[in-house]
Amino acid sequence: MIQTSLRELFSNIRKSSDKWELYLDVYEGLFAPFRGRPISILEIGIQNGGFTEVLAAYFPNAVKIVGCDIDEKCGSLVASDPRISVVIGDAIDAGTAGRIKEISDSFDIVIDDGSHRSKDIIAAFCRYFPLLREDGVFIAEDLHCSYWHEYEGGLAHQFSSISFFKLLSDVVNYEHWGLSYPRTRLLSDMFQHHSCEISDDVLETIFSVTFCNSMSIVRKKAASAVLLGERVIGGTEFAVADNAPHNHSHAARNDQRGNPFSDLDLITNKHVFGLFVALLNANSKLSVDHARLAEQLQAVSFGIAESQQNQQSWIVEPLASLSSNLETAQGNNHKEIVERLALLTSDVETIKQKNTFFDWLRVKIGSGS
Ligand SMILES: C[S@@+](CC[C@H](N)C(=O)[O-])C[C@H]1O[C@@H](n2cnc3c(N)ncnc32)[C@H](O)[C@@H]1O
Repeated sequence: MIQTSLRELFSNIRKSSDKWELYLDVYEGLFAPFRGRPISILEIGIQNGGFTEVLAAYFPNAVKIVGCDIDEKCGSLVASDPRISVVIGDAIDAGTAGRIKEISDSFDIVIDDGSHRSKDIIAAFCRYFPLLREDGVFIAEDLHCSYWHEYEGGLAHQFSSISFFKLLSDVVNYEHWGLSYPRTRLLSDMFQHHSCEISDDVLETIFSVTFCNSMSIVRKKAASAVLLGERVIGGTEFAVADNAPHNHSHAARNDQRGNPFSDLDLITNKHVFGLFVALLNANSKLSVDHARLAEQLQAVSFGIAESQQNQQSWIVEPLASLSSNLETAQGNNHKEIVERLALLTSDVETIKQKNTFFDWLRVKIGSGS
């Protein structure tokens, strides 16, 4: 039987839906495996209700299709399909989530097309990803907003929604971190910033995080299915490399606790790391200046010694004073670095909330607690 494509259903709806073209193609491929199954769907942000009806038409065997919108006007939408329920309220609010759960306590597909603000997207993920069934999929739409200030974003914004999903891709690879922290540690600043959280048990069920333009797609599987498993070597001919001994071996557990690039405080503060690198670069430039000064200092010292020997007092005094100036300059350069680091730590600390990076930085530069 030829089934109607999502795009076709979309082009024939009466209630309006507002989508980007790319999404229709992505959804076509993403939704196909769910099509005949008795699934439940949550759509956050339904507006005119058009896409909710597309979903109902596309999934004939869907059991529940819950649409949630903060706009009370959505309460007057009359659904064309008895499987559709509309919940009015802020999706990230516990009360709204409670009403959604009364209709369905778990979902196979969650689409977040709500406010597109980083805070709401991350909070919605924390609230509804735990409700996703095994093999389910969570889609966050319109992540282009995460690059915009008005939506609590920006290309280098540490707490934007896209930064959050990028961090989740590290969570997928948790077994290779070589650290003794739980997964939640990587996200602790993010959670603290957005006042939400998600347990390690749930994080370990994130099977994959994929991105396409403006969308992030997070799949859930049983925790055991997320693991890399055994290395399997097929074939019996090893003309180039004898990999046979690796058959049924496990990925190396490579201890990274001493690796500064595995320092979680650094990773969770990448933008500040950039500042730190700039400072280190300035430091190395000053080291070059130091070397040049040291050479000059040595030349001057020789000059002083020679002049003293020759009793050329007219030149001894100016050289001695130049020598002391150079020594002061050297000292100042060091002082300048320390002062700049201290200023950086205190300055940024005042404009941001307490942040583990600065504790880390204080320890690293040995400036106490
Ligand atoms: C882009 S529209 C949704 C479009 C719709 N999904 C479609 O395909 O046509 C965004 C909707 O999200 C709703 N919204 C914004 N913030 C929300 C929140 N915190 N909880 C639930 N809905 C929200 C808005 O009221 C608006 O109707």
